[in-house]
Amino acid sequence: MSRLNIVVGVTGGIAAYKAVSLVRQLVLEGHDVHVVPTESALRFVGRPTFEAISRNPVHTELYEGVAEVRHVAIGQAADLIVIAPATANTIAKLAAGLADDLLGNTVLASRAPLVVAPAMHTEMWQHPATQANVALLRERGVTIVGPAVGQLTGADSGPGRLEEPETIAAAALARVGRAPSEASASTASDAPAPRDLEGRRVVVSAGGTREPLDPVRFLGNRSSGKQGIAIAEAARARGASVTLVAANLEVGAPAGCEVRTVQTALELQHAVAEAAATADVVVMAAAVADYRPASVSEQKIKKDASGDGLVLELVRNPDILAGLGRAPHDGTVLVGFAAETEPDDDRLLELARAKRRAKGAELLVVNRVGWNEGFAADDNRVAIIGRDDAVVTEAHGSKASVAHAILDVVVSELHHAAEAAPNH
Ligand code: CTP
Repeated sequence: MSRLNIVVGVTGGIAAYKAVSLVRQLVLEGHDVHVVPTESALRFVGRPTFEAISRNPVHTELYEGVAEVRHVAIGQAADLIVIAPATANTIAKLAAGLADDLLGNTVLASRAPLVVAPAMHTEMWQHPATQANVALLRERGVTIVGPAVGQLTGADSGPGRLEEPETIAAAALARVGRAPSEASASTASDAPAPRDLEGRRVVVSAGGTREPLDPVRFLGNRSSGKQGIAIAEAARARGASVTLVAANLEVGAPAGCEVRTVQTALELQHAVAEAAATADVVVMAAAVADYRPASVSEQKIKKDASGDGLVLELVRNPDILAGLGRAPHDGTVLVGFAAETEPDDDRLLELARAKRRAKGAELLVVNRVGWNEGFAADDNRVAIIGRDDAVVTEAHGSKASVAHAILDVVVSELHHAAEAAPNH
């Protein structure tokens, strides 16, 4: 396997110390790594550390090495640029194409794929300016890794934490079609995946919504989120930028996806609508509660006050998928799910066809569920109904292999959509 010339840009945040581990991993994978820190990154980690770990000299300033035209030479020679951590400020500069330091020049002078791992406080990450900048970078084909959700530098926690160095290394190498070595084995299953979703944006909702009754109780369902997670993971392995809208998952979210955590159907609707606005594919794998309590008690509901019976009044939640399906969505492929208990195969498919039409989805994935079927299992059996109501494919096996089968159909649907709308 040939040695890549990788530039690691490091910008000024506490998480800069994790860049040391990232550089180390890339060097151990056999690559030639050049670290380009910003001035502020060097306030967190010293130049000698980066030089020792990367085994290469480290430059920061534009006016060093002018004779060798360093401000463009580093970028021109790069096969891959990874910026980790990327602060909100750096992301804004990248979006605007600013080149007031060596890193900015390196990025602009390069045609290499760019992978950016943001790290910042949640408020900064969620600020509309940052979100717009990130959306713009994604549009230009930049791979965004993370941020992860977790403990931040202060007492706060939430989305904004730098992804783990192994995840960033694996995502960066995958971006240039390299399987990570056993050091990043958690994503080794990426290796055989075709890169046919490169540059695409995929939104996946997964899990099951919870509708609160009072501060301690909710109406929920038995969805584990495993199939949705498998789809998110497979889409990422195939090169997509993935936003996972995660409703009460029983298992951890996969690495390398942007994760939006939600509880209720209304929260899920909001998060999906926002992400879907710029998506090529929306997969609604979440089990969304069709109803929610008409009112949520501020205090715990006491049985003494309710007597022997308790009547709950429920109101309809919006149908999120049908809402997306009704709106014009040229070129965006909508994928719905139907979990049905119907025992008869033909009637099961008829239910699925009717549901696909009712929701306005391009594809509908149907599986049978029961007391002992479907939920939380590691295997799944599905049929996929296409736009002409035919069964496009049937798949069974691990949720990962079913995820890839679903994405195979999605990819051909994307080609079909592009042919139908050549100006899209
Ligand atoms: N869905 C949605 N919004 C809802 C309910 C469901 O977007 N309020 C989506 C699910 O994510 C899934 C598909 O629609 O992709 C499931 O359809 P749905 O009609 O909700 O299935 P069931 O709940 O099984 O419906 P029914 O009880 O009417 O059969």
